[in-house]
Amino acid sequence: MERLQKKIANLGYCSRRKAEELITKGEVLVNGKVVTKLGTTVKQGDVITVEGNILDNSKSYEYYLLNKPKAVVTTTSDEKGRKTVTDIIRTSTRIYPIGRLDYDTTGILLLTNDGTLANLLMQPNSQVEKTYIAKVEGIISISDVQKLRNGVLIEGIKTRKAKVKIKSVDKKKQTSIVEITIHEGKNHQIKKMFEALGYKVVKLRREKYANLNLKGLMPGEYRALTIKEVKTLYSLCKNKKD
Ligand code: URA
Repeated sequence: MERLQKKIANLGYCSRRKAEELITKGEVLVNGKVVTKLGTTVKQGDVITVEGNILDNSKSYEYYLLNKPKAVVTTTSDEKGRKTVTDIIRTSTRIYPIGRLDYDTTGILLLTNDGTLANLLMQPNSQVEKTYIAKVEGIISISDVQKLRNGVLIEGIKTRKAKVKIKSVDKKKQTSIVEITIHEGKNHQIKKMFEALGYKVVKLRREKYANLNLKGLMPGEYRALTIKEVKTLYSLCKNKKD
């Protein structure tokens, strides 16, 4: 059993707030009857109609965008008892992260129970763009930026072309802030790319993932994806070829 507004949001139709609005406006039907009470609960299989659209309530896929905070592991359980990303999200569904962010990395992380989408996004050739903001020790040179763009060797394999921009440098503190967009997902890829050129990443945040950004979400906050966002993710996977 799940609250109706949460169910509508989790099915990706709209945000929970918008769902509440639609319920009170009388735009929502459960099993053919208008429901305007916000506390109403529904179960899997109940037929939910919103603004005349029947939602697919049979599979009950859930999609979340989390602004992962630091000191949280990207797994569903941790043998050392550390906090995990799934501890943050309040759902009774068994969801799991799509890809991973390091313990100390913050930013966009998607979680779902939709294995098809997760597999598509994690394919090495999915080409979905991920943009990171990295703070590195040292003043990065233009020639090193060019090397990052063209690809550097990580464990003997050259990384694919990347978009790289210097955002700022702090000469006093001897640090640089660099924006880097990649479409691969090797373990610790960003840290290793900088390491390959002798720079240590001291802070890392994933700012964008495909069509998604962190707008409105503080670290530790999350929201359900809309159906439109889910559809866009699917189409991005289908349209791009290696
Ligand atoms: N690259 C890294 O090095 N760490 C992350 O968490 C993500 C990408």
